[in-house]
Amino acid sequence: MLIECENLVKTYRADAGIFTAVDRVNLAVNRGDFAVILGHSGSGKTTLLSLIGGLTRPDSGTVRIDGVDNWQQDDADLAIMRNRKIGFIFQFASLIPTLTVLENVLLPLSFASRPEGDRPYAMELLERVGLGGRQDDLPGRLSGGQQRRVAIARSFINRPEIILADEPTGDLDEATEKEILAIFHDFNKQGVTFLVVTHSRELAATQLNPRLFLMKNGTLSEMSSL
Ligand SMILES: Nc1ncnc2c1ncn2[C@@H]1O[C@H](COP(=O)(O)OP(=O)(O)O)[C@@H](O)[C@H]1O
Ligand SMILES: [Mg+2]
Repeated sequence: MLIECENLVKTYRADAGIFTAVDRVNLAVNRGDFAVILGHSGSGKTTLLSLIGGLTRPDSGTVRIDGVDNWQQDDADLAIMRNRKIGFIFQFASLIPTLTVLENVLLPLSFASRPEGDRPYAMELLERVGLGGRQDDLPGRLSGGQQRRVAIARSFINRPEIILADEPTGDLDEATEKEILAIFHDFNKQGVTFLVVTHSRELAATQLNPRLFLMKNGTLSEMSSL
């Protein structure tokens, strides 16, 4: 089992008291799975992804990545796990505005003690997301959809085993969404495991034949079909 959540709970303090954003979630994702989580906004999808990625500490319950409990290791080991094993595609813009497109894609490598980077691979990834030739631009010169593609290229730079993607095609037109899904498909065929949060029925209905989950008021259940 590559990703395993057991009885995961995360609450937030709210005006009306304690609000349970993730409510006793169990999830088991195998290596090579393409898993899609659907659900209305506010249902807890982003919170769940950040728990799985070790960015947020749960109130209770466990997350194991490749058998290792996120919170039973020290901060340094957790950071290494995040950096080496997981590629994150965040819901909102996450590029550094003062770095070029290429530098943004290479950034995760500088935390992985490989500051020299992997320029040829970064260029290849930019080509694959349709941004060949834009490597020296600053993010501010790109459209929202193009910036999203840079973030997608960046998520693959460390050759992660897992991609955690939060509404990765949320602000893209339909044609671009199809291209991005094709890229995901390629990587999934090469064995990369995907956990993708989306509103998009399109994404959920791809030829990838994904496992489908529905998040509702913090609880997660697997669906057999849409
Ligand atoms: N940092 C936070 N502090 C307080 N409440 C939060 C915080 N983050 C999320 N929430 C609340 O938790 C619920 C789930 O949020 P979220 O995980 O972002 O859902 P989704 O991604 O499905 O839209 C929402 O009601 C949201 O307002
Ligand atoms: Mg969200």
